[in-house]
Amino acid sequence: MDVVLKIEGLRKHFGSVRAVDGIDLEVREGEFTAVIGPNGAGKTTFFHLVTGAAAPDEGRVYLAGQDITGWPPASIVRAGLARTFQITSVFPDLTALENVLLPCLARQNHTARFWPDHARHPARQTAFAMLKRVGLAGDADRPCRMMSHADQKLVEVAMALATEPRVLLLDEPAAGLAPGETDRVIGTLRDVAASEGVTMVLIEHDMDIVFSMADRVVVLHQGRVLADGPPEDIRRNPTVKEVYLGGTFAGRG
Ligand SMILES: Nc1ncnc2c1ncn2[C@@H]1O[C@H](COP(=O)(O)OP(=O)(O)OP(=O)(O)O)[C@@H](O)[C@H]1O
Ligand SMILES: [Mg+2]
Repeated sequence: MDVVLKIEGLRKHFGSVRAVDGIDLEVREGEFTAVIGPNGAGKTTFFHLVTGAAAPDEGRVYLAGQDITGWPPASIVRAGLARTFQITSVFPDLTALENVLLPCLARQNHTARFWPDHARHPARQTAFAMLKRVGLAGDADRPCRMMSHADQKLVEVAMALATEPRVLLLDEPAAGLAPGETDRVIGTLRDVAASEGVTMVLIEHDMDIVFSMADRVVVLHQGRVLADGPPEDIRRNPTVKEVYLGGTFAGRG
């Protein structure tokens, strides 16, 4: 498998806080990777640096071999790297379809206003197809504020997919969801990753999900990669157990 995302020596300090302190990582095409680590480990900052939301102090980011370090976020999205946020960021008063239409219009360089027949606008067809992909075809015309938190998360995923990413970074897509909903959201992500060939890297706190669904687990601790490997190796890794999982995971699985 080809390396689609390569991170070299990434570093970001905030004063004396070493949020990201020298991360090297290679993600191969098609891999479903979970990033775990305690609060403040640097997970979100790492995503900010990779997606251009913050500038690294040091290090490089390569997408499919192209150096994208320091690019504006919109250019990084156009190059094929999309993300979703830790805090759900749909427009609550717009319908699911309208939310997904926004990135579709941006992508296709259209504005719906000048299109004679809105219902047949090509971006609308694309947006609907994206919603269908995440299992929300029947909810296209519902305002997002009326939808469950899990469905809003999936609308966000559909918005990200509308940018046609090669790589999708998801910051805690299952945060705050009930267990059954977590399975549905992460299961949908896995299906989409497989059927669309999108490489996904997700930050996730639920260890049952991580160990049952990820191909690979990267453990961050104090801004560094503490361990990296298949879930079964990470689960047995003594350093991970000691530093991170300790009592919270020892009894499970
Ligand atoms: N803009 C900022 N200014 C100052 N410090 C920051 C900033 N962003 C993050 N930090 C600090 O950097 C460290 C890493 O934070 P980050 O949000 O990346 O952690 P995280 O692993 O995503 O945590 P969580 O699991 O709570 O989401 C923390 O100590 C945090 O307080
Ligand atoms: Mg975070």
